[in-house]
Amino acid sequence: MIPKTELHLHLEGAAPPAFIRGLASEQGTRLDALFDERGDYRFEDFRQFLRTYEGATSVLRGPEEFARLTRAVLEESASHGVIYTEAFLSPDFCGGRDRGAWAEYLAAIEEAAAAVPEIEMRGIVTCIRHFGPDAARETARCAAETAGRFVTGWGMGGDEGMGKAADFAWAFDCAREAGLGITVHAGEFGGPESVRDALALRPSRLGHGVRSIEDLALVDRLAEDGVVLEVCPLSNVRLGLYEDVRRHPIERLRDRGVKVTVSTDDPPFFGTTMTREYDALAEAFGWTEDDFRALNRISAEAAFCDDATRAKLLETFP
Ligand code: HPA
Ligand code: ZN
Repeated sequence: MIPKTELHLHLEGAAPPAFIRGLASEQGTRLDALFDERGDYRFEDFRQFLRTYEGATSVLRGPEEFARLTRAVLEESASHGVIYTEAFLSPDFCGGRDRGAWAEYLAAIEEAAAAVPEIEMRGIVTCIRHFGPDAARETARCAAETAGRFVTGWGMGGDEGMGKAADFAWAFDCAREAGLGITVHAGEFGGPESVRDALALRPSRLGHGVRSIEDLALVDRLAEDGVVLEVCPLSNVRLGLYEDVRRHPIERLRDRGVKVTVSTDDPPFFGTTMTREYDALAEAFGWTEDDFRALNRISAEAAFCDDATRAKLLETFP
């Protein structure tokens, strides 16, 4: 099995439906509207996806639930050969952005991660764009206060249609000053203009960013500046950006000089795993072990981790 690094994984979004249903039944509630007749998460488009996602988090009530989730997610990732993963963590769902509560959730997540030694984990604290700039500020304060060995990054997910990047500048500056690596979701539901807007926040990486392909001058700028794309091909296909992986722009972006990496985003929502992503790319583009090694070297170089961890990762991908 090829060893893998993953840079773009939402912790709550990695909760299998059965895990969420199990918690619901322990709590004496039902969340039937979130699931289809096969028991998979139900959504037709991006906004419904966000609603289902937020509905599922309602049973992730305390640090103990997040500890169980972390362990389950890391064990699943490790079974696909993932040796290093960065997970988006959301103070919004971990104590409602209260800094004291956040510290308790985070301690539980970090302790659970330490119990899965096959995989090295780091956290990217994430604000949710459609919750607005004031919530983002509070989230950034949570991030800044807990920045360190485990929390190494700052990001923003959610509805790209909400506001301008500049509205979130304070939160991004706060996180940057705390020493956190910066990534932003853009160019997924928004077009190239959303990527140009996001670049004002000076990220070293972009979540998705794939719709940059619609503006080749922008693609060249990403290549020149070395901005790394966290590409999640099967997420993009499931959410209807592209009909299939063969039509996905990842190879065109790569061949024009953009640094691309591969991740799963929210695997049970999109019916994916890291194995499926690699298999789909091998099938669509004929990518070989050499291609995947190069991809993983880019991930290791772009990872929000300390130099010793990076050096160890790079040794794995000679
Ligand atoms: N995009 C935006 N927000 C998200 C995503 C995504 O892919 N996954 C979870 N929150
Ligand atoms: Zn994402």
